[in-house]
Amino acid sequence: MGLVLGIESSCDDLAAAVVRDGSQILASVVHNQDLIHARYGGVVPELASRDHVRHVHATVERALHESGSQIDDLDGIGVTSGPGLIGSLLVGLCFAKALAYRAGKPLVGVHHIEGHLASARLGPEPLACPFLGLVVSGGHTALYRIETLARIELLGQTRDDAAGEAFDKVAKRLGLGYPGGREIDRIAREGRREAIQFPRPLTGDPGLDFSFSGLKTAVALEVDRRESEGGLAPGDVADIAASFQEAVVDVLVQKTRRAVDSTRLSRVAVVGGLAANRRLRERMETFARERELEIRFPEPRLCTDNAAMIAAVADRMLSEGARGSFGLEAFSRIPLGRIAGAED
Ligand code: KG4
Ligand code: ZN
Repeated sequence: MGLVLGIESSCDDLAAAVVRDGSQILASVVHNQDLIHARYGGVVPELASRDHVRHVHATVERALHESGSQIDDLDGIGVTSGPGLIGSLLVGLCFAKALAYRAGKPLVGVHHIEGHLASARLGPEPLACPFLGLVVSGGHTALYRIETLARIELLGQTRDDAAGEAFDKVAKRLGLGYPGGREIDRIAREGRREAIQFPRPLTGDPGLDFSFSGLKTAVALEVDRRESEGGLAPGDVADIAASFQEAVVDVLVQKTRRAVDSTRLSRVAVVGGLAANRRLRERMETFARERELEIRFPEPRLCTDNAAMIAAVADRMLSEGARGSFGLEAFSRIPLGRIAGAED
């Protein structure tokens, strides 16, 4: 399509990026709020949207400046319109609408998960379609068949907590820092993965759905038990983190294997915040080697929320003629391919 500005504000990260032709990242800026939410051990929606309001203008300006482009150079604007926190989404959406209106540029609303899936196709060697996409983030855990980026089929998803949510809650229970996923990844390297045999939920189930809430509870009960028996001994936290992480990774690898068997796809992308996890990358790479699959993980800065992935989807939508109206809405939950207003 050309030069597209992406804006992402669905949760606690505020991001803007300028991408050329859907794959070449000219600038990708992320303003994160870790310090704001750290003391609460989780995202506080009201604080997230207020901080977005404070920084949205400067973040977009910085992305334009770093890319060496002006608003007038843009061929279009893409903004995340769901799923996510409504207050957070509205900030990016209102800003994008105002900018599109003032500059006379086409605007499209982008589905956040489509963005994560498209992150596998950013960079010099985009993963070819069709591929199997495992989305593992703070809000989502799901497997998709990506026939083309416009034809995506949901194969299975979590019935309760997302994998990242379980990482964050376990980290909080273990008294680790925030955001928890990264901390578990770090401390697990010092622990024994086989120290505790935590459950691997739904791995006996023939389907492709996930469940992580029981695993999270099993970890909490183990911590309670050890605390009531005199407290956590040195090394316990690392052992629990490593054993928990291994259980999650086992589930993700087993379900991916099952999905490869049933779809017969030979390419796999692992995307979303957890795709940055070292143990998951290691185990998935081994699996891919055994089965001679082509596997792709986005570079770490593109695993977590960013706007380059949003611009990449917007580029495709715009080139297919999609145009969002100024009535484009924010959606806290919305199935893939159903962003209203994108087609009028
Ligand atoms: O994709 P993302 O930025 O946001 C959502 O769309 O949800 O994912 C954030 C999630 C958080 O739960 C965070 O703890 C987790 O990804 N995360 C990790 C790692 N880095 C981020 N989890 C495990 N290991 C990591 N290295
Ligand atoms: Zn995300």
